[in-house]
Amino acid sequence: MKLRNKEKDVIALLNKAQRENKHNYITEDKLKLTAQEAGLSYSEVYGVATFYSLFSLKPRGEYVIQVCDSGPCHLMGSKSIFKVLEKELKIKVGETTADGRFTLEEVSCLGICNEAPAMMINEKVCGNLTPQKIREILRELRKKK
Ligand code: FES
Repeated sequence: MKLRNKEKDVIALLNKAQRENKHNYITEDKLKLTAQEAGLSYSEVYGVATFYSLFSLKPRGEYVIQVCDSGPCHLMGSKSIFKVLEKELKIKVGETTADGRFTLEEVSCLGICNEAPAMMINEKVCGNLTPQKIREILRELRKKK
């Protein structure tokens, strides 16, 4: 019960810790700090950090591309979305590009099933994906320094 009441605060703290890290992950030091700030045990905070797929405890790319593969997105072609991304980025799901810019991950429902297939890049959700739209999104991201 204690964890449920504080889970929202912990999620916000973990989200901030992850955003502040240039490799898009939560360090062990930040887990400990979050536990102190939230008044919870390390294992409770670790449990939250490992339960939600938006959090990572391992270094990732500057842009984390999370493709939904839940039912509606799967039916609307998420597998072809993975293929386009794997080909464009030259990595497989779970990997990071050699230049450290992109990580590709598979996740469950992002909450925009009416725009399936969908993906999220860092905190931005993108729906109604097509191969052409994905190439345009990647082209824009590659232009950014
Ligand atoms: Fe993909 Fe809901 S099933 S966003």
